[in-house]
Amino acid sequence: MENLTLTVNGKARDIECDPATPLIFILRNDLDLTGSKLGCGLEQCGACAVLVDGEPTLCCNRPAGEFTGKDIVTVEALAQDRTGAAVQRAFVAEGAAQCGYCTTGLVVAATSLLKKNANPDRKAIVEALSEHLCRCGSHARVIAAIHRAAGETANV
Ligand code: FES
Ligand code: FES
Repeated sequence: MENLTLTVNGKARDIECDPATPLIFILRNDLDLTGSKLGCGLEQCGACAVLVDGEPTLCCNRPAGEFTGKDIVTVEALAQDRTGAAVQRAFVAEGAAQCGYCTTGLVVAATSLLKKNANPDRKAIVEALSEHLCRCGSHARVIAAIHRAAGETANV
């Protein structure tokens, strides 16, 4: 066990852990940030995505020790972010989830996309979501939600 300091949602957090532990377990079990979901654990589904230095990053299979000195943002903090909040409202408005297991990863990816490209076309959206699987088949509504969020953020 070691003392690891991670910056999560703007705060430095000290965690006593094995730094080889995948970050998702530290977020969920040590920091009670359960928004990021553990799906495949093999970087194949996108459910665990968080922002790391602004980039959507899968955290189910990478050691927490790799993330020291980086800015980690989980879905819990996105409601306080203008773009993140717009994405969440748009997902609700479009009914872009069924079981919701993939949703937080998609919200993270969509927020990152809209911060880089305020008006993405369908191709750009599909590309940004390419690492994300939805077993409930909500992709068409997710794409509609991202178009809606883009329209909302453009008008503020
Ligand atoms: S849980 Fe990380 S990609 Fe599936
Ligand atoms: S809403 Fe169920 S997996 Fe996507």
